[in-house]
Amino acid sequence: MKAVTWHGKRDVRVETHPDPVIQDPTDTIIRVTSSGLCGSDLHLYEVLGPFLTEGDILGHEPMGVVEEVGPGVNSLKVGDRVVVPFNLSCGDCFMCGQGLHSQCETTQVREQGMGASLFGYTKLYGSVPGGQAEYLRVPFADKLPIKVPDGPADDRFVYLSDVLPTAWQAVAYADVPKGGSLVVLGLGPIGDMATRIARLRGVEDVIGVDLVPERLARAAAHGVRTVDLREHGSKVGEVIRDLTGGRGADSVIDAVGMEAHGAPVAELAQKAVGLLPDAIAEKLMTTVGIDRLEALRLAIDVVRRGGTISLSGVYGGMADPLPMMTMFDKQIQLRMGQANVHRWVDDILPHLTDDDPLGVDSFATHHVPLADAADAYKMFQKKEDGAVKILFKP
Ligand SMILES: NC(=O)c1ccc[n+]([C@@H]2O[C@H](COP(=O)([O-])OP(=O)(O)OC[C@H]3O[C@@H](n4cnc5c(N)ncnc54)[C@H](O)[C@@H]3O)[C@@H](O)[C@H]2O)c1
Ligand SMILES: [Zn+2]
Ligand SMILES: [Zn+2]
Repeated sequence: MKAVTWHGKRDVRVETHPDPVIQDPTDTIIRVTSSGLCGSDLHLYEVLGPFLTEGDILGHEPMGVVEEVGPGVNSLKVGDRVVVPFNLSCGDCFMCGQGLHSQCETTQVREQGMGASLFGYTKLYGSVPGGQAEYLRVPFADKLPIKVPDGPADDRFVYLSDVLPTAWQAVAYADVPKGGSLVVLGLGPIGDMATRIARLRGVEDVIGVDLVPERLARAAAHGVRTVDLREHGSKVGEVIRDLTGGRGADSVIDAVGMEAHGAPVAELAQKAVGLLPDAIAEKLMTTVGIDRLEALRLAIDVVRRGGTISLSGVYGGMADPLPMMTMFDKQIQLRMGQANVHRWVDDILPHLTDDDPLGVDSFATHHVPLADAADAYKMFQKKEDGAVKILFKP
């Protein structure tokens, strides 16, 4: 099969790999029909290289059609249409039972001290072959894949793998009080969708911050008040306070993550990558750490006292000394973590209708053949050609 593989910093290639096979009785093999390119993949493309091995298959936002099922699979059959959540969760353990699928105790990567395994996401998360490929092996076939109806185009459902549950969780964790305000930092796919979900759930005052004109325009078109970082620079905190009665926002979502602009490094970074040889850890620090906590700092700055920060941007372990005193003094609630996909599916599905209140049918800006993945990664990283969300079509 063809698959998108990692070869080094800013070097992904489409290569031929052996087709996946059923390994456990409860496995299924999916023929992938659509597979998203995510901001999280950009971290692999740029800074998380030390955790990847050349040839790793990337991708964690796939959907497709069941091609084969293992002998122990009961509820899925060949031909079923499914979306595959980005985290591997068994559906049966204590954590899955709590709706904390990203902490699944069956797939936790204990030797790395990490939570549930993820498709296509480094050895920290189990080195599981990813879904930017023609075929994908999916374990826990009776529990993990989300069955979706035939009919609508893939775009209707594909974001159930990541964008929708991540954005839904971001909004749920942001816990915006009735009549309150929400600032969303970063208007990539996650931030953009979070603004839509917040509005759908009745938050009237949503303020979006970014520095890419098309992304700001997209959010503005959905009733979001936008703040352009390029225009306001270091004054952005004041601008947001002005927009929120001088007090700051009730809730803030950080949908930027480790590759934001601004802010220094910390020694904790080295501890986080302590398993690596020093030379590599240092390199990681210098390439990752510098100037990357700006969004989180901004979140802390613009949240009101007693407000809530909901963190969905991924941080790769490099944490410079956070302004803990300010965080503590402001009595901020900070919630974070990978999305617990299954926890939110029943909430989201009723909104994936022909009326399309979340605009999923037109959410993707680009549909790209898998063969052109290398160019698509480049375009997405550079934010060229208005690229906001790219779906691969294997
Ligand atoms: N928690 C989860 O389960 C989960 C799931 C998916 C993605 N993520 C993470 O969410 C983040 C966003 O993902 P995406 O797909 O939308 O990625 P993206 O890279 O397309 O979006 C990030 C956006 O932030 C903007 N930005 C950069 N610096 C900023 C700053 N200082 N202030 C405000 N905006 C700034 C960029 O211009 C960009 O539009 C990534 O870190 C990704 O890894 C987390
Ligand atoms: Zn993703
Ligand atoms: Zn589990």
